[in-house]
Amino acid sequence: MSEKKVVVITGAAQGIGLAGVKKFLKEGWAVAATDIKKKELDEEVAKLVAEGHDVTAYELDVTNYKQGQEVIAEVVKKYGRIDALFNDAGITGHRKNILNFDPELIKQAEDVNLWGSLYLIQHVSRVFVEKKIKGAIVNVSSFVASFAEWSPFGYGISKSSVDGLTRTAAFHLGKYGIRVNSVAPGYTKTEMAIKYDYSDPKLRKAAEDKSLLNRWIEPSEIAAAAYFLASDEASAITGVKLPVDAGYTTTKEDNKVSLYGETE
Ligand SMILES: NC(=O)c1ccc[n+]([C@@H]2O[C@H](COP(=O)([O-])OP(=O)(O)OC[C@H]3O[C@@H](n4cnc5c(N)ncnc54)[C@H](O)[C@@H]3O)[C@@H](O)[C@H]2O)c1
Repeated sequence: MSEKKVVVITGAAQGIGLAGVKKFLKEGWAVAATDIKKKELDEEVAKLVAEGHDVTAYELDVTNYKQGQEVIAEVVKKYGRIDALFNDAGITGHRKNILNFDPELIKQAEDVNLWGSLYLIQHVSRVFVEKKIKGAIVNVSSFVASFAEWSPFGYGISKSSVDGLTRTAAFHLGKYGIRVNSVAPGYTKTEMAIKYDYSDPKLRKAAEDKSLLNRWIEPSEIAAAAYFLASDEASAITGVKLPVDAGYTTTKEDNKVSLYGETE
């Protein structure tokens, strides 16, 4: 059995998931890194292994219940334990409004963001319970779960559902000492946001202006918060969503210009 603590991370080939891999490794954990993009994942993991890190790559489409079960069984076979799950894999889905959505496409974001997270929670929690491990689960919500948005609206719905999932899983699993929380990133510099908002200077600036700190967020800053929630430092915290959004959801953009002017 691994002497190190072991974390399973989904969506680990890039972005916030990959930043999570690096953070947990830095803190001395072993990492089971999983992603649907096998080639990209293998390349990143090979670099980390060459640097001497304890990390293993597993191909996993989180929407595939059976594959999830098999991957978790493989992780247990290799490491003998699992201490945390970082449920990071996510997609935005398609950009249509309520009047125009395609019923086939609208479910994609929910399949990955909600059901994928739930499947992994079941697989990993069964290991926690069987091995009497007081494990931790960190889901990934989003700032857009806190308000209505134009697009992609199915994404917002799926992330609101992740908030419900976090509360429900914390409720069901608390009696085993298993903690379930989430991080809710704001605009973070990853491919997901770079493709749309970050690569357009006007949108990039608009996103900055809406946050209290007037800036974008680094993937490593989300990973640090996720690590905190998974670590023993957060031993009394369960069922919460931790916004890591540079204050984006703390106020409305308009409120930055007060009706009464700034107070002294
Ligand atoms: N970047 C942001 O601004 C932002 C804001 C709020 C929330 N988030 C959330 O953060 C998480 C990470 O996103 P990111 O910004 O790093 O995006 P990203 O697109 O860079 O990374 C997402 C990763 O998930 C993987 N993935 C997608 N579908 C999968 C599936 N079915 N099975 C397994 N892996 C799959 C991708 O291959 C990719 O490696 C997501 O849940 C996302 O919704 C991101």
